[in-house]
Amino acid sequence: MRFRIFGSIVICVLVGFGAFGVSRWAFKPTLRSLADARGLDFGVSVGGSGLRTDPYGSTTAREFNLVATENALKFEPTHPNPDEYTFDEADTIVEFAEAHGMSVEAHALVWQNQNPDWLMNGDWTRETLMDVLHDHIATVVGRYRGRIKYWVVVNEAMTDEGVLADNFWMQNIGPDYIEWAFRWAHEADPDAVLLYNDFNAEGLNPKSGGVYNLMKDLLAKGVPVHGVGFQTHVYYVWSPPPAEIAANMQRLNDLGLQVQITEMDVRIDQPVPEGALEMQADIFREVLGVCLEAENCTAFSLWGLTDAHSWIPYFYEGWGSALVLDGDYRPKPAYDALIETLEKHK
Ligand code: XIL
Repeated sequence: MRFRIFGSIVICVLVGFGAFGVSRWAFKPTLRSLADARGLDFGVSVGGSGLRTDPYGSTTAREFNLVATENALKFEPTHPNPDEYTFDEADTIVEFAEAHGMSVEAHALVWQNQNPDWLMNGDWTRETLMDVLHDHIATVVGRYRGRIKYWVVVNEAMTDEGVLADNFWMQNIGPDYIEWAFRWAHEADPDAVLLYNDFNAEGLNPKSGGVYNLMKDLLAKGVPVHGVGFQTHVYYVWSPPPAEIAANMQRLNDLGLQVQITEMDVRIDQPVPEGALEMQADIFREVLGVCLEAENCTAFSLWGLTDAHSWIPYFYEGWGSALVLDGDYRPKPAYDALIETLEKHK
């Protein structure tokens, strides 16, 4: 009798564990499910053609609730000739997002790179170039009015010293190209959250000081700017100290601005040294933790879906493995670190 009771208890416990195991498997959280629960926009930059294929499309929709247009809405692809706009790729991305209940971060209206030759080599006066930029912004932003949650309006306008870069727009229009770009974007889509975005301006340094001062000036003039994107292209042996990122987020919060991690990747030199994947995981964990603890951090995005889709090997020779899924879509330690961090901050 005693033996039978004991036996039943053992069986119940085993069945219980089994069911628990199955339910853990069935409800295994994804980045998206945890970010949804927390109300965080968790994004990835994508290309349109990939989304029509699996596992690229299915992985994007399973793991993320935000997609960033990696190249599709840059000046050159959308406006290749003075009188020609092309929106096929951007349409694919926006329609994919809508079909899967995701938000869109569009990138980027004004930048010094990926501009068409007709623009860069044109013979402009301040007035004629202002007209071109106004028309570009009104057309591109206007086309997706009400469908794009975040717009990166100005990308990478600051030098390391914290002054405005002497780029094409600065030379031909002057420093007010920035405020006009924000005003025109706001006119074209009054509900979109408008961002300034830059790299190496995550921690506290002259560049992030320059971005802070720029934001302060724009707000004082009543310019509709709503947030700052921290690109966060870092590497596994160095990333800005988390306390500095937090302090930078806080001072922008004090101005009433939101912040985002917009393009995070953590590059590793190739072949991957021993222990590097764990160091990479720690950096992803720390930066996401800072975002989750900041009052004003609204989104955290990766720049590319897998290591096979990352821009890093093309732009930093000898570097790669910068994302959280490997080239075969397998989760890396960095993926688990992001899951754990989201679980900890539920
Ligand atoms: C990169 C894309 O990922 C590449 O596919 C493209 O060839 C070049 O641009 N900072 C930015 C992004 O703001 O627009 C860049 O994207 C990466 C660096």
